[in-house]
Amino acid sequence: MRFKVQTLNDISTKGLERLPSDRYEIASEMGHPDAILVRSADMHAIQIPMSVLAVGRAGAGTNNIPVTLLSQRGVPVFTAPGANANAVKELVLAGIFLAARHICEAWDFVRGLDLTGDALENAVEQAKKRYIGHELPGRTMGVVGLGAIGVEVANAAHLLGMRVLGYDPQITVQRAWQLSSGVEQALSLDDLFARSDAVSVHVPLTDDTRALVNARRLRHMRDGGTVLNFARAGIVDEPAVIAALKSGKLGAYVCDFPSAAIRGVPGVVALPHLGASTSEAEENCAMMVADTLRDFLEHGNIRHSVNFPEASLPRVPKTARVAISNSNVPNMVGQISTRLAEAGLNIADLLNKSKGEVAYTLIDIDGKVPAGLVERIGTIQGVLSARVV
Ligand SMILES: NC(=O)c1ccc[n+]([C@@H]2O[C@H](COP(=O)([O-])OP(=O)(O)OC[C@H]3O[C@@H](n4cnc5c(N)ncnc54)[C@H](O)[C@@H]3O)[C@@H](O)[C@H]2O)c1
Repeated sequence: MRFKVQTLNDISTKGLERLPSDRYEIASEMGHPDAILVRSADMHAIQIPMSVLAVGRAGAGTNNIPVTLLSQRGVPVFTAPGANANAVKELVLAGIFLAARHICEAWDFVRGLDLTGDALENAVEQAKKRYIGHELPGRTMGVVGLGAIGVEVANAAHLLGMRVLGYDPQITVQRAWQLSSGVEQALSLDDLFARSDAVSVHVPLTDDTRALVNARRLRHMRDGGTVLNFARAGIVDEPAVIAALKSGKLGAYVCDFPSAAIRGVPGVVALPHLGASTSEAEENCAMMVADTLRDFLEHGNIRHSVNFPEASLPRVPKTARVAISNSNVPNMVGQISTRLAEAGLNIADLLNKSKGEVAYTLIDIDGKVPAGLVERIGTIQGVLSARVV
């Protein structure tokens, strides 16, 4: 079988190369696609064909995708979590150095010097004491959120000789394994702020994290510290940061989210949302999502889906596989097994996982899938989609 993949945006060639042409037809316009690859195109505004089995977003968020509607149809939405982590980490490291050595202010000063020869040299020598900075070893960096990006930032700061405190009450086992053993656990956010010279936030924007960096926590920080925000604007209470910069409590605010209020405030370095803007990050996202999409289309396995559980089952030789998504309600596996028993089929392997309101079942059966079986499974109330893989 050859799968049809429709691209709603330009997807990096390196990603598309992961879908070989003998098995995949890829085009920006086609009828009855099996899957859609998208970056930022607004999928709320289009009719998604009923033939679509999966949607892959070459990026992290899913604001442009009607995830709830697709869940109701039994269609997983895949993203590329962490594919841009290195890109963001490198910019955060740049931000740490920009702040520690007052590089932006110093550069501004030099650009404003309309002098030559001795006059220029004298002006430089006189001004340089204004830009005395500090080195990193011995300073403490607090990292809030130890996910894909936070772990990389924490590990890199530790390698730069900083003492590193991390805080993430929901850290996953995978991230905990990746975290350098030199990173210490902060007892609470307040504890982290109180012991840090610099704080970098790497959490999603939620009701819990909105204004996580606020006037009270900034007061607890060591004097002249730095806040780095390469996560989302709303995680920082801007008026509180501006007040802390003006009072000298805070030395620098380095962020990826310029606003009218902070642009131009002394001590602010605001970049135009450049965190993930590298060619490598785009390629990584496209390759990662193409790989997960392929594994799903060819084997029914699910990784990195925002609406479906993780579900991977190695293929057993001489078996056929049925993949079923259904509402997460009691007795679904029982009813599906009954349909298989009625057809005289033996189950070689079975995996059933759930996430929220959706459950997903992979069943390997000995021999071939008889005609009509998938349709009979599809008549069970609560089954959202079923197919032979
Ligand atoms: N500047 C950019 O261009 C750019 C690029 C990519 C991501 N981001 C932002 O960075 C954020 C982090 O990205 P990621 O890939 O590391 O995400 P991730 O999901 O891998 O990690 C987020 C971590 O935050 C933790 N967390 C959630 N709430 C918390 C809280 N209240 N206190 C402490 N920890 C908490 C989670 O447990 C998780 O480990 C994203 O949500 C996104 O907003 C920005």
